[in-house]
Amino acid sequence: MKVVLPLKVNGDDYEVAVPPHWTLLEALRYELRLTGSKQGCDKGDCGACTVLVDGKPVLACLTLAVAARGKAITTIEGLAHRGKMDPVQDAFDESGALQCGFCQSGMMMSAKALLNERPDPTEEEMRLALSGNLCRCTGYTKIFDAVRRAAQLQAEARRVALGQDEG
Ligand code: FES
Ligand code: FES
Repeated sequence: MKVVLPLKVNGDDYEVAVPPHWTLLEALRYELRLTGSKQGCDKGDCGACTVLVDGKPVLACLTLAVAARGKAITTIEGLAHRGKMDPVQDAFDESGALQCGFCQSGMMMSAKALLNERPDPTEEEMRLALSGNLCRCTGYTKIFDAVRRAAQLQAEARRVALGQDEG
């Protein structure tokens, strides 16, 4: 038996038919073919599957697809805007924050959620926000550098946008 489910992902409306026990991660990866969200541990330990649901970071491997009905889901594929990378993506790139890349999308989605909420986070807030995302390669130093840099880039982008509005 399958349930037909409307899902709003990255601003687009979809209708997917999935078994009722499927997770949001399964619906994204196997129905919508959005494979940027990674299936790591599949039990809530690694954070590789992190997506935003109504702006909040959520582990898609622990969320039933039916529970996401009517909510706005953002995946790594939706982070760039009109062909322009998000400041979080630019910062991770600039900082050389990744090696194998498996943790990358989850890390960036957690960082994005943090910066949406706290544009200028403290060190402690940053570490707490990323504490559910595991990386087996980098040792985290460059990832934290990237989040600090993303905060700067986001602030610069905001200043530019404000300047354009005023000009
Ligand atoms: S795959 Fe979801 S937390 Fe690891
Ligand atoms: S870069 Fe390999 S797990 Fe993070």
